Amino acid sequence: MSSVVVVTGSAGLIGSESVRHFAGLGMDVVGIDNDMRQYFFGADGSTRWNLDRLVKEVGNRYTHESIDIRDRDGIDALLARYGKNIGLVIHAAAQPSHDWAAKEPFTDFDVNAGGTLNMLEAVRRHAPAAPFIFTSTNKVYGDTPNRLPLVELPTRYELPEDHEFHDGITEQMSIDQTLHSVFGASKVAADVMVQEYGRYFDMPTAIFRGGTLTGPGHSAAELHGFLAYVMRCVMEQRTYHIYGYKGKMVRDAIHSHDLVTAFEAFHKAPRVAEVYNMGGGRYSNCSHIEAFQIASEITGLEAKTDYVDQARTGDHQWWISSTARFEEHYPDWKLTYDVPAILREMYEANQDVWKPTA
Ligand SMILES: NC(=O)c1ccc[n+]([C@@H]2O[C@H](COP(=O)([O-])OP(=O)(O)OC[C@H]3O[C@@H](n4cnc5c(N)ncnc54)[C@H](O)[C@@H]3O)[C@@H](O)[C@H]2O)c1
Repeated sequence: MSSVVVVTGSAGLIGSESVRHFAGLGMDVVGIDNDMRQYFFGADGSTRWNLDRLVKEVGNRYTHESIDIRDRDGIDALLARYGKNIGLVIHAAAQPSHDWAAKEPFTDFDVNAGGTLNMLEAVRRHAPAAPFIFTSTNKVYGDTPNRLPLVELPTRYELPEDHEFHDGITEQMSIDQTLHSVFGASKVAADVMVQEYGRYFDMPTAIFRGGTLTGPGHSAAELHGFLAYVMRCVMEQRTYHIYGYKGKMVRDAIHSHDLVTAFEAFHKAPRVAEVYNMGGGRYSNCSHIEAFQIASEITGLEAKTDYVDQARTGDHQWWISSTARFEEHYPDWKLTYDVPAILREMYEANQDVWKPTA
């Protein structure tokens, strides 16, 4: 019986939500995570707390393996151990920040591209029928979205209503000839390889290109975890540095729960080599200015921000995903969280943790 789910990055935001969700459906979950996020982002970024919480909550349905996905032999041996019992693979371990990638391009590429290939090849050898879900990123489109004819409104940039991407950017946007950032390029390599294992080896692979993925399982760090870091800064009364675009850059945000229900839909009815843009779409999006307004309303606290007049290299000025392709394939799937609901949940979950420092 193929009842084992393998989740890489299982202590991270998406991985931990996946573990909880599929364990809740009665599947056994094997999680791979070596807390490398602490190496990337320092103590703030460690996912150890989330792992401890997970182990407590999920109990013996969860087995943790502190393997580095760069360890080809270790990954192969682990997948060999579970073999055909593996019914689903969710590959969410990554170096996730484009600012960080430029500091150590070898590490970034080895984790994102090499680690993905290690996972794909081990799955092909030991459990080729298992649906393989990869969390890619909208950074594969590089800075091409910044060529859209945006107009400036009081709190955000917007696309004219008659533009083909007004309801969201589709998978039709080119991923070629654009500034990806080093991170975006390593994710492109992984993204294309996951597609290739689908097309070439006929494996049921799917790529979910996320925008802002968020939820209470995020270890909020300045370089990664936008909405969680906004809420943390407001609650702790820390200063948040806004980089460029007058704080009017737009992000769509999807709660980890809504992403994982999309994974479940794919698991139930897998397809081969699919690519989906996945985010909050028109239902759930905000600019930085708007995020602080909402966080202030929720907390009753004033936000402390300062402005650096230089956008991060490759940062998107406007990104709203079109989820139309996914919804066409999986019409029962629905988004359930919008930005205010996401921020409110973070506020409630962290009241005892994120307090102003004296
Ligand atoms: N969070 C977002 O806004 C966002 C947006 C687009 C795409 N994504 C992608 O979604 C995926 C999951 O993101 P997340 O927000 O859950 O990230 P996360 O950093 O919260 O979780 C990733 C986990 O992987 C682990 N990890 C990193 N390198 C590892 C390695 N070499 N071996 C084993 N474990 C390792 C980390 O310790 C961490 O716990 C990533 O692929 C990321 O690129 C995230």
